[in-house]
Amino acid sequence: IIHSVYCLAGAYILGSIPTSLWVGKAFYGIDIREHGSGNAGASNTFRVLGAKAGVPVFLVDVAKGWFALTLASYSGFKPSTEYFALFQLVLGLFAFLGHVFPVFANFKGGKGVATLTGVGMAIHPFATIFAVGIFLITFLLSGYVSVGSLVAAIAFPILVNFSFGHTTLSIAAFSFSVAIMIILSHRKNIKRLREGEEHRFTFGKSK
Ligand code: G3P
Repeated sequence: IIHSVYCLAGAYILGSIPTSLWVGKAFYGIDIREHGSGNAGASNTFRVLGAKAGVPVFLVDVAKGWFALTLASYSGFKPSTEYFALFQLVLGLFAFLGHVFPVFANFKGGKGVATLTGVGMAIHPFATIFAVGIFLITFLLSGYVSVGSLVAAIAFPILVNFSFGHTTLSIAAFSFSVAIMIILSHRKNIKRLREGEEHRFTFGKSK
């Protein structure tokens, strides 16, 4: 049991790495949370600092989710058992919590979309790739990253549960949690969207 506690702490710490904040501070001398939407995530890094910073931040944040799941092999649970699979999902959840409430950044982090994309790629690549496609289409049509994230997050459990192929109960349950977690982490975006004040994403310059 002590091993699994270490693994959960590891996943949380991994998720806590505030990539966007550190990249902004180290290479551009800015606190990303004081610019654009104020969010410490890949989208805002794109918005404020461009693709040169945004792409690596996105990839590292995806990798955090992916690698968090690999910690399961140190947990003591036997691989390819239902417990192991379930524990992996809990690790993904802890990486998400680390990203949103990072211990290294006064618990003020991002919204977890990239990190959960990494988790999704590890547990259900088919549904995740489709969700990324849905994200891109919705984002490009609406001009809002948050709309893309929200629609993709809501589509994710539908894709997981109604796409071809068998899925386990834990993955099915997790897919619904993803939708709920993303909706919760986007509360401010939802409020801004309703008030017509959401930050648009325009390539080149932003508002
Ligand atoms: O991934 C977060 C995105 O959905 C919204 O980010 O910076 O527009 O609040 P932002």
